[in-house]
Amino acid sequence: MTSFIVLIGPPGAGKGTQAEAISSKLHLPHISSGDLFRENLKDQTELGKLAGGYINKGELVPDDVTIAMIRERISKPDCQSGALLDGFPRTPAQAEALASMLSSINGQVTSATYIAVPESVLVDRLAGRWTCRKSGHVFHENFCPPQVPGKCDLDGSELYQREDDKSETVKRRIHIYLEQTQPLIEYYHQRGVLVEVDGTKSIEQVTLDLLAAVQKDGNA
Ligand code: AP5
Ligand code: MG
Repeated sequence: MTSFIVLIGPPGAGKGTQAEAISSKLHLPHISSGDLFRENLKDQTELGKLAGGYINKGELVPDDVTIAMIRERISKPDCQSGALLDGFPRTPAQAEALASMLSSINGQVTSATYIAVPESVLVDRLAGRWTCRKSGHVFHENFCPPQVPGKCDLDGSELYQREDDKSETVKRRIHIYLEQTQPLIEYYHQRGVLVEVDGTKSIEQVTLDLLAAVQKDGNA
């Protein structure tokens, strides 16, 4: 049985930050639906143009498009031993589609880790976030500053502020999260795979808590 780990949390909870920290330790590829859309947007593919319209308004990209993109990504050889999914699934329909695509390759979601962070903290996190142009590595001007301002520590590429991190769009994203994604917490709880970590602790402490939670569940 192949293990897939899902990271759930509101915008700015630290999904990307934590996926980066734990994917190498768990020997699992980090698959971020948001990063895949942004790569397509940068390359101006048809998928990117379509997704961009939703992303910049803070809305979800339609399920059929998102599910097709993830199905293709999961079918690549590096996912044969599982993957760490960041930002997918995000609706009950996506969760059902994931379960059925995994069952066809003898896989399953073995941990759904919910990174809990209250709304009041999210706005500051997103307002101060700087993202790397090349690979989506994430920094924060106060909480996780790069060594050289404006430059990624890992690959030297330019850091930029995401279009959807403007405060009005952030409010919309949080609203959509509460409405469409939060029900997945109950969905995975009912299936006995939900683990919750306190995402307000330091980045390093959240990493340790996440690793302890997924390893306890037998993923590593
Ligand atoms: P996506 O890119 O997934 O955005 P998101 O879910 O809104 O989450 P973020 O990436 O904003 O936050 P994060 O949790 O990764 O936090 P991060 O680690 O960066 O999706 C973007 C858009 O794409 C969506 O709105 C939608 O349009 C579309 N999309 C994507 N997936 C989709 C799907 N499945 N279905 C439909 N549409 C989809 O951290 C944030 C900041 O906080 C950073 O600056 C970081 O340094 C800092 N930080 C992190 N942890 C801590 C900590 N513990 N203490 C202090 N600071 C911290
Ligand atoms: Mg992210």
